[in-house]
Amino acid sequence: MRRKIIAGNWKMNGNVAFTRDYLSKFEQSLREKGLLASSDFQIVIAPPSILISEMKCSISDTSIEVAAQNVSAFDEGAYTGEISVSMLKDLACDWCLVGHSERRALFDETDAEVVKKVQQLLGKGIQPILCVGETLEQRDAGRAESVVAEQLDAVFLNEELVRSGELAKVVVAYEPVWAIGTGKTASPEQAQSMHESIRNRVAEKASSLAETLVILYGGSVNAANAQSLFAQKDIDGGLVGGASLKIDEFSSICEHVAQAK
Ligand code: PGA
Repeated sequence: MRRKIIAGNWKMNGNVAFTRDYLSKFEQSLREKGLLASSDFQIVIAPPSILISEMKCSISDTSIEVAAQNVSAFDEGAYTGEISVSMLKDLACDWCLVGHSERRALFDETDAEVVKKVQQLLGKGIQPILCVGETLEQRDAGRAESVVAEQLDAVFLNEELVRSGELAKVVVAYEPVWAIGTGKTASPEQAQSMHESIRNRVAEKASSLAETLVILYGGSVNAANAQSLFAQKDIDGGLVGGASLKIDEFSSICEHVAQAK
């Protein structure tokens, strides 16, 4: 059985006061729903890096884990403004998003950089959440699956990564670019179909990893659509942006994931 994971991506939102207030109320809400500390269900929150330390200190129940939204592809040195994997490790950060579509589109992040980041993270024991997804134009041109396959292959076929034997620690988040922050979610059928194709692709290229690969869906997930999305057989959880900033909404999305299947 695969572990279910729900991750909240705060993007460039929040501050110290918000983080403290959010966590005390969010944890309270999870406790009321009996959702904390379960071995097959993981809650992850990705605040801006500058708030990771505050978040780590404010979490009272260790069953909530913390992710960074990005990391440098470089080790250390003269890279002004960058944050290294060692620095994330130093803050006891557990996870890191890699290749989010906003980074690919707004900051020209390439598959080659994504691979370097995944290597850095796995080398230091931080679990990558590899984001993949097609634009509307690519979907309309019938290229959705091939675009996603290419993004996956960059990582799952990278010889060094294959040799490292660490690829089983990678979680994939399928986020159709046209569904991110638009209020336009992929239908459960569309999402399931892509998730199945992702699992098949990984099965074809790295067969031992496919069955246990955790694949999250992201793109305008909210409390109203969560149940039907997470009921799909290859959807193992979610990556939630806007709705993760609203405590009640995110807490009910968490409940839907925990209760799914
Ligand atoms: P959204 O963002 O839920 O606001 O669409 C998802 C994401 O970008 O991870």
